[in-house]
Amino acid sequence: MRLKGKVALLTGAAAAIKGELMGFGGAAAHVFAREGAKVVLTDIRDELGDRAAEALRAAGHDARYMHLDVTSEEEWTRVIDAVMAMHGRLDILFNNAGVGFPRKVEDITLAIWEQELNVHAKGVFLGTRTAIPAMRKGGGGSIINTSSVMGIVGSPTSPAYSAAKGAITVFTKSAALQYAKENIRINSVHPGYADTPLTEQRFNDPAVRQVLIDRTPMGRLGTADDIANGVLFLASDESSWVTGSELVIDGGMTAQ
Ligand SMILES: NC(=O)c1ccc[n+]([C@@H]2O[C@H](COP(=O)([O-])OP(=O)(O)OC[C@H]3O[C@@H](n4cnc5c(N)ncnc54)[C@H](O)[C@@H]3O)[C@@H](O)[C@H]2O)c1
Repeated sequence: MRLKGKVALLTGAAAAIKGELMGFGGAAAHVFAREGAKVVLTDIRDELGDRAAEALRAAGHDARYMHLDVTSEEEWTRVIDAVMAMHGRLDILFNNAGVGFPRKVEDITLAIWEQELNVHAKGVFLGTRTAIPAMRKGGGGSIINTSSVMGIVGSPTSPAYSAAKGAITVFTKSAALQYAKENIRINSVHPGYADTPLTEQRFNDPAVRQVLIDRTPMGRLGTADDIANGVLFLASDESSWVTGSELVIDGGMTAQ
């Protein structure tokens, strides 16, 4: 029970149904719930999210789903107000929602550029800004932002994604500095190539898959649980002296 008594809000967490391919948010929701947290799953895929929360409740967990488009200031306020009204505290925020539109620079439309920056950089900023006052009321908290290995090194396929994830990497460190004295820890997690609903179509192409496996020293792609287990450490009090850090979970990809 590493998160006993804690309240966790997760974005991009609708893919959380056991027996189906889970995303990082979905897998983290299961791990958090298993460790005793009350979990609030959010996403824009409402039907899937509702089913996922229902299944978690059926397994005996305290879980619910709420619609949250991370690019909307109003929706962030509504959801965090609802969490505070429901549970009276917010201890953990997993800022994890994401999109991906691989393109060469010359093929990146302004709409794609803005979508990447909005969902990733603006979404993480809005979530962090809205969560901080709620966490302060409880004496602190942990915010985990999903960046990527592509927020550390360049992406051969997705410069706009890489720019957006890079923004998360350094925003995380700056915010961590500003709130360290208030016991609000803010860290980023940097997954390598992993099988999730977001990547399923692209990574299931055998030729693409082989290239990604060849780039990964450990010789396999990651799973959502590989990432969720790292996120659990950052969410729990076991990481109580960790803030502004980059947790890389990539099978060794960025070590080379
Ligand atoms: N899978 C990988 O290889 C990989 C690697 C590095 C980083 N990531 C990042 O991990 C995060 C989770 O992705 P995943 O791979 O687990 O896939 P996923 O499909 O489970 O998660 C992405 C979720 O974000 C949701 N979403 C998209 N736009 C949104 C918005 N505006 N508001 C709220 N929710 C929105 C989607 O509906 C989806 O459920 C993303 O930020 C992604 O960029 C993934």
